[in-house]
Amino acid sequence: MSDKEISGEVYYPSKDVIKNAHIKDWDKLNEKVSEDYLGFWAERAKELHWFKKHSKVLDDSNKPFFKWFVDGKTNISYNCLDRHVNTPRKNKIALIWEGEDGEHTTMSYFRLHKETCKFASILKSLGVKKGDRVTIYMGRTPEIVIAMLACARIGAIHSVVYGGFSVEALHERIEDSQSRVLIVSDGAYQKGKIIPLKDIADEALQRAGTVEHVLVIKRTGQAVNMEQGRDMWYHELMNLPIVTNNCPVVEMDSEDPLFILYTSGTTGKSKAILHTHGGYMVGTYTTMKYVFDINDEDRFWCTADPGWITGHSYIVYGPLLNGATVFLYEGSPTFPYPNRWWQLIEKYGITIFYTAPTAIRGLMRFGESWANRHDLSSLRLLGSVGEPINPEAWKWFYKVIGKEKCPIMDTWWQTETGMFMIAPMPCVPLKPGSGTRPFPGIIMDIFDEAGKPVGNNQEGFLVIKTPWPAMVREIYNDKDKYIEQYWSKFPGFYLTGDSAKRDEDGYIWVIGRVDDVIKVSGNRLGTAEIESALVSHHSVAEAAAIGVPHEIKGNAIYCFVILKQGIERTEGLIEELRNYVSHEVGPIAKPESVEFVDSLPKTRSGKIMRRVLKAKVMGVDPGNLSTLEE
Ligand code: WT7
Repeated sequence: MSDKEISGEVYYPSKDVIKNAHIKDWDKLNEKVSEDYLGFWAERAKELHWFKKHSKVLDDSNKPFFKWFVDGKTNISYNCLDRHVNTPRKNKIALIWEGEDGEHTTMSYFRLHKETCKFASILKSLGVKKGDRVTIYMGRTPEIVIAMLACARIGAIHSVVYGGFSVEALHERIEDSQSRVLIVSDGAYQKGKIIPLKDIADEALQRAGTVEHVLVIKRTGQAVNMEQGRDMWYHELMNLPIVTNNCPVVEMDSEDPLFILYTSGTTGKSKAILHTHGGYMVGTYTTMKYVFDINDEDRFWCTADPGWITGHSYIVYGPLLNGATVFLYEGSPTFPYPNRWWQLIEKYGITIFYTAPTAIRGLMRFGESWANRHDLSSLRLLGSVGEPINPEAWKWFYKVIGKEKCPIMDTWWQTETGMFMIAPMPCVPLKPGSGTRPFPGIIMDIFDEAGKPVGNNQEGFLVIKTPWPAMVREIYNDKDKYIEQYWSKFPGFYLTGDSAKRDEDGYIWVIGRVDDVIKVSGNRLGTAEIESALVSHHSVAEAAAIGVPHEIKGNAIYCFVILKQGIERTEGLIEELRNYVSHEVGPIAKPESVEFVDSLPKTRSGKIMRRVLKAKVMGVDPGNLSTLEE
């Protein structure tokens, strides 16, 4: 694409950036992939290890239940570890970790492999078998990575619950997945305090009946309750002579489940998104390599939590599949001072730094001087994910952190897509606020309400028209929901739930969610989850939650509550309800405001009209009210 063809404010990559990149010409690659996208993915699969090669790249005979690398046998954990341990990479650092309290450790591929085997053999001794679900509820320490890889090694399905979720959210996810084993840490350091993860888990387990064994990882060392016969310290088991380093890998079919990860959808409870060993592996491996241009010399830092899809795909699987060095940090960016991240980049020589717009906005507030006191010259690439990045934050990131030499990879994707879907590569000209174009081989479009493509610069529903290897396979145990959520509004096309525009250069500008999902600091929350927590409080009759714009968080949660008869409206009750949601769902879901009302605007079929509530809070015209009941 020549310079003249692109309109608007454009940032071109330097010759140096292009010279050393895996992909030097995006258009050429795109052209080649477009001719034969299945051939492209088959070539990528060849770069990984298969116990048995696939007989077919894609089986689309039973849409929308696509199968990739049909009949192939592999194991993603084997590809992350054993594949490297059999090469000189065995001595390379796989993982560098620093705790918020300053404790730190590094692990070679050799050691990470051994630790994973040990962890896997402990899981086996607890009776965990292929296909069993294991819930993991931990802070950001090396053991969370090891636990995930250990599950994958023996074919167990991991279900990681983000440590920022709390009692009811954890309970619901354990119960829905029917996990018999829970892996939990005693606590995690966050902003100088301890999040009592084991205590929260104990409370959740009082509500759930499926868990038989709890494996407790010692991190903070505070006193925790250990229930006889149920709870075991991981470090004690590790020292038992029955625990071996030698835990054979289980050969998995390409389509065998790798993990489930709960995320909020349009309605009701959160849904378990299912990903598989084969396609997810090829998708995360390839996008990591092409978009973040990962090399052996790199030190890659993704600041997400392993408990979100970003952490699954781009802290654990994508980087390790590529034999990269990953950095993991336990704590908060502002503890003890707002320079912590910049200090860590300098200390560990991070070369690729991938974070979220909300974090950038949050750190911008403290001014440039915190970053300027550190040598950030090791950086060569930056990344952004989670929500649209506002041009102001983009430019600050580009200038103050990247010193105008590091292209920003703004990556649009979802829990369901498993891998980057709209993202540049280092050689691609950038426009602040756009993730540029879909990854080669992926065709996306923007539809109007009737399913017709809209014109340039018009807003509409963002859809995906072609299958991709890392795509969600189903909502675990609920195939109907899967079809209903993603494939029914525009049959034959995957509905992302986002609205977007496309400009004359084919660049896509994502605007935000069009469903009942709220993005708070990039975290995905469902209005239903917050509302059901509120109505479970003894004072509340009905509740509605909406997202309203917030300078740093992107959106903040605003709740409307109808109290039960005879309950008095007090400031104290507002505080109680906010804290109650935090206790039940998690601190990330704590409402910014709670307003008491007498009624809620509803359609005749009883659906809350959130659009009307939002207009009220923002003081704007609510638009068409013809479907309003009263
Ligand atoms: C939703 C998916 C998978 C990454 C973490 C979030 C929003 C994500 C971007 C971006 C604009 C973005 C979308 C999407 N989103 N990345 N670069 N630009 N919006 O995964 O929790 O499943 O959320 O996050 O609204 O639908 P998730």
